[in-house]
Amino acid sequence: MTDHAQPLVFPADFLWGAATAAYQIEGAAGEDGRTPSIWDTFSRTPGKVRNGDTGDIATDHYHRFREDIALMAELGLPAYRFSIAWPRVRPGGSGPANKAGLDFYDRLVDGLLEHGITPVATLYHWDLPQELEDAGGWTDRSTARRFAEYAALVAGRLGDRVGAWTTLNEPWCSAFLGYGSGVHAPGRTDPAAALAAHHHLLFAHGLAVGALRAELPAGARVSLTLNLAAVRPRSDDPADREAARRIDGLANRIFLDPVFHARYPADVLADTAGVTDWSFVRDGDLAEIARPVDALGINYYTPTVVAADDPADPAPRQDGHGGERSPWPADQGIRFLPADGERTAMGWPVDADGLYELLTRLRDDLPGLPLLITENGAAYDDYSDPSGAVRDPERIAYLRAHLTAVHRAIAAGAPVRGYFVWSLLDNFEWAYGYGKRFGIVHVDFASQRRTPKDSARWYAEVVRTGELRPAGPPA
Ligand code: FCB
Repeated sequence: MTDHAQPLVFPADFLWGAATAAYQIEGAAGEDGRTPSIWDTFSRTPGKVRNGDTGDIATDHYHRFREDIALMAELGLPAYRFSIAWPRVRPGGSGPANKAGLDFYDRLVDGLLEHGITPVATLYHWDLPQELEDAGGWTDRSTARRFAEYAALVAGRLGDRVGAWTTLNEPWCSAFLGYGSGVHAPGRTDPAAALAAHHHLLFAHGLAVGALRAELPAGARVSLTLNLAAVRPRSDDPADREAARRIDGLANRIFLDPVFHARYPADVLADTAGVTDWSFVRDGDLAEIARPVDALGINYYTPTVVAADDPADPAPRQDGHGGERSPWPADQGIRFLPADGERTAMGWPVDADGLYELLTRLRDDLPGLPLLITENGAAYDDYSDPSGAVRDPERIAYLRAHLTAVHRAIAAGAPVRGYFVWSLLDNFEWAYGYGKRFGIVHVDFASQRRTPKDSARWYAEVVRTGELRPAGPPA
């Protein structure tokens, strides 16, 4: 559904931007008092990240942030979503603040504002201070308290200039890839730990919402970003539908019910009873978790297709997240299937209808709650051609299809207020290292030269006009 004869016009106040995350771009891992996070430890552990890549240098954004801001200004991006590195501003995770670390974000925010770019800050994009992991990490309740303290500290410094805040990015990945399948830091593989981490992440979110509200001026907006799944059963067969119910529980309702209704879904508690007794949930936690937020951030890449497992079918189980173990606690009997169609360099099927399905579901399930697409984009094997240009028609097609889906969802009444492309720059793509390029700006990692790809120019035009024009004939 990407063909349209007329331009698709987005609302005048729609917030357009690009997103990044601290560990993926900053580098300067040991500078100015920053201490290691779980991703430093993980990426330095042989075999964990492809090619032995680490975030030690990344895109060197810590030193080149002015150039990157100028690039955003040149592209006319109205907003920038970035994350703050906890071990940079509070080394070790507790104790005194690190002035040099806070100063960096201060300069970043001032630079953005000087160029008229709205800063949107995420407090946790996966870089837990290693000392806190050593003390139990997200399986330990006290980590949530440390997170709320850190949130207050950052808000105290930047809250006079940053009006939009996100507590956590994709806690599903932190809990289930970090503590379940182990393909993300800290690399633990224990389903019970994954569920404890899940709860403590949500508890941390709730405590941080309280801490942010206490610190920020009235009118500041506080949210949470989730990678909710567009879950589809392979068929209408009751066994496939049952598989979809279970994964919908573990991907979606395990977040939405506590955050918006102060309860865990009864079916998820029952499905996971063989893994944990959930005794880490204490009285009062759910009320804390359900503190009202002003918006919900959604990261979307590809749908999730599930079926009842067929023991006779030798095809490997796959869910697009890599690794030998499943990230999903209690997923026995469930098979993950690739959706049909073309794939990105991640192997993720391109399926914009999934985004429409998700947005209209949220329209119905959370009436009136403003939604922001905080990440959407695609990796392709981009290279700079002899003329120095980076041609990425596949990415343009991907973005066009997904923006069309967003437009369709808005027309159907979904309150989507903004869109952030993932990512501004090619960067450290977690366990895939530098091999997967998601940027609209190409980065030559040897020289650190930035080159806007064709998609950056295309996106700049969409942002400038607020319209998606019909696709021209193929070049
Ligand atoms: C999301 C992450 C982001 C990036 C994209 C491709 O899960 O939030 O950092 O890696 O995937």
